[in-house]
Amino acid sequence: MCRVCGGTVSEFFDFGNQPLSDAFPRPEEIRDEFFFRLAVGICEDCSMVQLVEEVPRDRMFHEDYPYHSSGSVGMRAHFEQTARELIETELTGPDPFIVEIGSNDGVMLGTVNQAGIRHLGVEPSGGVAKLARAGGVRVRNDFFEQSSATEIRAADGPADVIFAANTICHIPYLDSIFRGVDALLAPQGVFVFEDPYLGDIVELNTFDQIYDEHFYLFSVSSVRAAARRFGFELVDVRRLPVHGGEVRYTIAREGVRPVRPAVGELARQEHEQGLVEPSTFERFGTDVKRICGELVDLLRTVRAEGKRTVGYGATAKSATVTNYCGIGPDLIEAVYDTTPAKHGRLMPGSHIPVHSATEFREPYPDYAVLFAWNHAEEIMAKETGFRESGGRWIRYVPGVEIF
Ligand code: SAH
Ligand code: TMP
Ligand code: ZN
Repeated sequence: MCRVCGGTVSEFFDFGNQPLSDAFPRPEEIRDEFFFRLAVGICEDCSMVQLVEEVPRDRMFHEDYPYHSSGSVGMRAHFEQTARELIETELTGPDPFIVEIGSNDGVMLGTVNQAGIRHLGVEPSGGVAKLARAGGVRVRNDFFEQSSATEIRAADGPADVIFAANTICHIPYLDSIFRGVDALLAPQGVFVFEDPYLGDIVELNTFDQIYDEHFYLFSVSSVRAAARRFGFELVDVRRLPVHGGEVRYTIAREGVRPVRPAVGELARQEHEQGLVEPSTFERFGTDVKRICGELVDLLRTVRAEGKRTVGYGATAKSATVTNYCGIGPDLIEAVYDTTPAKHGRLMPGSHIPVHSATEFREPYPDYAVLFAWNHAEEIMAKETGFRESGGRWIRYVPGVEIF
């Protein structure tokens, strides 16, 4: 049943049993790993693409949640720019107030804080919330939902902006989110959020965007319908180049802001792309199977030649690739990553060891699968020595390729 409108969800792809994408077990913990059925479908009524099974939120977002938003130079720049834009366009009145849902380590609110603007991050994961506080950001260590939003409204007054990046798509209880926004948002305020875009996922075959935390794959059509359902209006959209293609949605209370032409334009484009048609998702499923087959064939071939292959970036996305395609330590000997909390741990489900990125060169392998393909430029720029040593990168989206 659709988590937004109660309609029928038509399942279009089943990835089988999958572990939590951000749970990196220690060797002695692998017996307790949690698995769930990762399957995705589209609502026949409101076109919302969503997971068929829901993982309890406390299993994913807790004290040890390992993802640190500030780990990428490119994303730091993106969020500094985002904060500046919000400050210049929306936070212009007397004593403005901004709330961020899923503020993580303070990557966006840090800039807001430095500008001396009243703010609050709402972040359930204790470890990253602590990091944000250490940087001067004000954080409520909690899940954003109707009840916490109501308390924030009572304590701090209405918010001019409620912002979220890569977080709303993580939250199945969208009804409670919208009711919380309704309780907290100022009459003329905006709810702005950005998430991976279904149009890009389908276009570029980025099937690894589908994992436990990505409960929704949003499109303009589905977000517009959801906003309406809860008394809001989608007034602007903008495509963003980050994380393999996202859309930033701007939502206001019904009738208070003009609807920008971009909304209708992108909705039209989605229609042409067939983003609500079953055949599009059939094609997508066929491509996922083909890509996995080709990737495994390539890894087996280079192993047969006696070459060493590793992975680069212990991303949440890579959990779907390794587990669905059946790639273990026999095909990829280790994965290198800059996040200290992931070092000495194993990749979820596949149990490939994770090592510090500083060890990537000791010595360089023959091949490296770029799991963090969304940070390709940044990684290529700092790992030039790999290619110079004769190493080759492997990518698997939009298709399998040595480059
Ligand atoms: N905004 C950051 C973090 C994205 S990761 C960025 O774009 O990089 C998603 C974050 O959402 C995690 O830190 C997670 O703890 C948080 N989160 C999950 N559910 C939440 C909820 N209901 N309210 C607020 N934050 C939530
Ligand atoms: P993300 O794709 O969800 O942003 O996760 C990126 C992962 O890749 C994260 O675990 C950090 C890691 N990473 C590196 O190891 N090196 C890098 O240069 C960058 C940008 C990320
Ligand atoms: Zn629906």
